[in-house]
Amino acid sequence: MFIETEVPEDEVIISRTDLNGVITYVNDTFAKISGYSSEELIGRPHNILRHPDMPRSVYKELWDTIRAEKSWSGYVKNMRKDRGYYWVFAEISGVYKDGTLVEYKSIRSPVPREMRIKMQHIYDKMREEEHEAWRAVMYLPFATGEKLMEAAKKRGISAEELISELL
Ligand SMILES: Cc1cc2nc3c(=O)[nH]c(=O)nc-3n(C[C@H](O)[C@H](O)[C@H](O)COP(=O)(O)O)c2cc1C
Repeated sequence: MFIETEVPEDEVIISRTDLNGVITYVNDTFAKISGYSSEELIGRPHNILRHPDMPRSVYKELWDTIRAEKSWSGYVKNMRKDRGYYWVFAEISGVYKDGTLVEYKSIRSPVPREMRIKMQHIYDKMREEEHEAWRAVMYLPFATGEKLMEAAKKRGISAEELISELL
């Protein structure tokens, strides 16, 4: 069961990152909606909120756009700390100091329900077309992890390739 959090109409959700996407600031509303405290978010990469339903190409387009010093806007489904989710319409652009790009900022607003349903379908289709690889996060006992890495190294292949061979 994944619970959706409704983004309030009358509040803005703001965050800023350094040029590598590491969070440098969040407002209280951002923290509240994501389920993290601001201390837990600041210093962490912004992909801490990445939901597996989001197609990779959306973030590629986002980064290509903002790196070219243009602003990007789009629909984003984020994952809360409790694994629930929330949809936002995000506008991301540069923060300039004396004409130099120093950070990025994102201002988000709520997404109407029909649009959330529409975007879910669009992103599901996009992911299917992109043939996305599974994103697997595994916690192994330290010794097992070491053995896996060692065996892969001996064979001159990656740990992912070794796991695929074993299946
Ligand atoms: C200002 C700013 C705000 C961002 N906000 C989000 C966000 O709310 N959720 C998210 O998943 N990624 C956000 N990103 C994009 C992440 O940096 C990252 O590219 C994305 O989560 C995909 O993760 P990955 O590149 O590790 O696959 C933001 C990036 C910037 C620069």
